[in-house]
Amino acid sequence: MIHIRILICLLICPLAAAVTVAVSIASAADAPPGASSCSGCHPATAGVATPVPRLAGRDAAQITTAMTEFRTGKRPATVMDRIAKGFTDDETKAIAAFFAAQKD
Ligand code: HEC
Repeated sequence: MIHIRILICLLICPLAAAVTVAVSIASAADAPPGASSCSGCHPATAGVATPVPRLAGRDAAQITTAMTEFRTGKRPATVMDRIAKGFTDDETKAIAAFFAAQKD
């Protein structure tokens, strides 16, 4: 009996892992470079209690302006000034458009 369980697990576990990898590749393909790093701090789903505001569904121009102001130091920040410096204008615009297009 134990052998059968182990055998079933050996068959199913890699399958589950493969599905997980396939799903994450599929969703990562939609996101422009760098966008997935934002959701480490900015919650991807509504209803998450966090002081870091959500980006999904926001106006793209608003995100781009905030990123530019963080980068230039016009807008005070704890971490976003350093993060914003890692992205060019074009990369920031692509990320902003990606989040603006997201719905809940
Ligand atoms: C390490 C955590 C962290 C990561 C990663 C992160 N942010 Fe932030 N973000 C913050 C914090 C904290 C603030 C509030 C300002 C501050 O203290 O820096 C903020 C503020 C912002 C704001 C202003 C929101 C507002 O309404 O005031 C924007 C826009 C923003 N982040 C965009 C991004 C984008 C785009 C990325 C990915 C490229 C990103 N952030 C990655 C932590 C993070």
